[in-house]
Amino acid sequence: MQIDILGNADTVTERDSSLLIQTAEAEARVWVYSPTIIRVCVTRNGKAPDESFAVIEKPLDNFTWQKLYDTVEIDTSALKLVIGLHPLRFSFFTADGKPLSEDDERFGINWQADRVVNYRKLYPDEKFLGLGEKAGDLNRRGCNYVNWNTDASLHTITTDPLYKTFPFFIGLHGGLSYGLFFDNTHRSFFDFGATTDEQMSWFGADGGDMNYYFFGAQGLRNIIEDYTWLTGRMEMPPLWSLGYQQCRWSYMSAQEVLDVARRFRERNIPADVMYCDIDYMDGYKIFTWNKETFPDPKGMIDELKAMNFKLVTIVDPGIKIDADYKQYKEGVDRGYFATYPNGELYVGSVWPGRCHFPDFLNEEVREWWGAAFTTLADPGVEGFWNDMNEPAAWGQNMPWMVKFGDKFMPEVRNVYGMQMSRGTYDGTKRILKGKRPFILTRAAYCGTQRYSAIWTGDNAATDEHMLFGQRLVNSLGLAGMSMIGVDIGGFMGNPTPELMVRWNSLGPYVPMFRNHAALGMSMREPWQWGDEYEAVIKKDIEQRYKLLPYIYSGFYQSTQTGLPLARTLAIDYTTDESVYDPFYQNQFLFGDSILVAPVASTFDSCDVYLPAGDWYRLSSDEKFNGNQSVTVPSPLTDLPVFVKAGGIVPMQSVIQSTNEPGDGILQIHIWNGDEPNAFVYYEDDGSTYAYQEGVYHKRTISFDPQKKEVSFSRVEGSHTSKYSKMRLVWHGFEGVDEVEMDNNNETLTINY
Ligand code: GLC
Repeated sequence: MQIDILGNADTVTERDSSLLIQTAEAEARVWVYSPTIIRVCVTRNGKAPDESFAVIEKPLDNFTWQKLYDTVEIDTSALKLVIGLHPLRFSFFTADGKPLSEDDERFGINWQADRVVNYRKLYPDEKFLGLGEKAGDLNRRGCNYVNWNTDASLHTITTDPLYKTFPFFIGLHGGLSYGLFFDNTHRSFFDFGATTDEQMSWFGADGGDMNYYFFGAQGLRNIIEDYTWLTGRMEMPPLWSLGYQQCRWSYMSAQEVLDVARRFRERNIPADVMYCDIDYMDGYKIFTWNKETFPDPKGMIDELKAMNFKLVTIVDPGIKIDADYKQYKEGVDRGYFATYPNGELYVGSVWPGRCHFPDFLNEEVREWWGAAFTTLADPGVEGFWNDMNEPAAWGQNMPWMVKFGDKFMPEVRNVYGMQMSRGTYDGTKRILKGKRPFILTRAAYCGTQRYSAIWTGDNAATDEHMLFGQRLVNSLGLAGMSMIGVDIGGFMGNPTPELMVRWNSLGPYVPMFRNHAALGMSMREPWQWGDEYEAVIKKDIEQRYKLLPYIYSGFYQSTQTGLPLARTLAIDYTTDESVYDPFYQNQFLFGDSILVAPVASTFDSCDVYLPAGDWYRLSSDEKFNGNQSVTVPSPLTDLPVFVKAGGIVPMQSVIQSTNEPGDGILQIHIWNGDEPNAFVYYEDDGSTYAYQEGVYHKRTISFDPQKKEVSFSRVEGSHTSKYSKMRLVWHGFEGVDEVEMDNNNETLTINY
């Protein structure tokens, strides 16, 4: 194998708002995207740079640089990039010269055959977070990972790789933070000091360029904000998708779907969504309905609508080889499927049997795919679940010479699912004429937040998987993904009733609350567990509906800053060592004020770590001092959930679906504290894009304990709130009565 080193810089010039540095082997270019974001892209001579699927922003036209004796320096108000010229090395410092991340002096960037690798200095106290859907601890120091989107059915809590690729990590050392996004779609790998005797960390890919974005903002919130500025943020999800979702592989007939929906209403258990998994189709042909078991899709969906349910249907990429099938014929005629190099169509087997695979990287193919959703959307489907898009094919070993347009499989694989969800999103958005579609995808790459929600794939019905799932959600949040689900109850295997109850008690705090199970597994609806447990599950689902005003505002925050709804404690308590303790690492903040401690179903008491500040248990208002771990009861009826002192949590009374008007009262719950706090309350019509034209209702609710005052800013936006009244509900205040008032748009101050 040949090792090619980057070598010395021969020339340094400015070109097209970048700095161009030439070596004998390669060409390096540096762009400044903002004072805190610098991109470095090193390409081998003669190779065209890779395209990006993730990045949606452009670099700045101008930046400041100077050539010194043996280095070039780029200076922004926040960052200093020192480029060593002999040999070519890249090292990042804060503006005042503190090291953030430096190339390893000896090895820097090099090629090992087609592999491109960057070796970087490892600081003794350096921690690493991120990479999205990855096994292992919150702090990834000492671990290594591969990104290669995989149909990881039967995965364990240590399996790597899983379904998604997020080559973006955050480094922490010496009280400083940085982020690094390696925008390369080939199979990539990251080693956080696992096998280098603590000397180096390194990352690279099997092909493509050493193309990375360095984020020098201080603080995780700022890094996430910058990363999601660069790669985009989610749009407001349809409100219904935030309600309870009932799925199964599969409800086998329209009758069964309707029966289950009816049971929810009969038993007064709130729910918003029913799913059709693969068996609604005719022979697993995408965009068809099984005429026997789903004879009248529109009739079924109308009945669901009358019960205030939405329907989500699954689609897979594999197009069945069947001469009588529209999508097969069109795809073949128009050359839309992946091929071998000699032009023969690639064949892989999935649920329908032998299939071809659309080239979702091609815009024309995405448009064709997107337009085909009329067979689902016309009868009334508004949610589209994209599965098996790693892409999966039985055997899992799609040959590397399979071509998608002019690209080969290894370069395409990690973005295939993202491009499928993009086609689905664009197409269904067009078809739904102004209504927000709900898209859910299993495979993903950086930037997927612009198109789709995600879920963590085929987990198992164990406590271990429940806790692992939360770690995945927390880590995916660092990669700009906010709308995330896990299969509640566990996909494979049968949960004990206790596990089912416990998992449902975590459900209100999972950004997407979806119950799902595999073919042949026990039924999972809330009434399958006996009256006593049904009552507990019902209460948990009701809790979700009570919290929806808070949750919706939390998603608004994701659309504005990229901050996820479920946040590892590392985001706000970065320098607190306890949050990395494997014992506490599953804990997270849900929105600004709620702390959740997931607990195995077998423990009726547990240790919870409460970071600095005071905390109240949500269920009892019992007060705790933070900066310590506390042992608290955790019976199945009461998951340990806490609210930060000063926390402001808008809630509503229980409704049976998000389509119900409710009692028209917005409850503003406030927990007493010594520090002032503010919450941005956001509401819109929940279903269209009118909010993008100013039709929303937004105001800041402030709590000031010094002035003993709660105030509401003037409402911004032209949407009329669905709550005609507001009620202040006090927690931890002595002798203060609830206050009820009209919800008009004016400023308002309440003294207590
Ligand atoms: C895959 C999906 C799972 C789905 C099944 C059948 O295993 O991950 O959620 O139920 O396929 O479509």
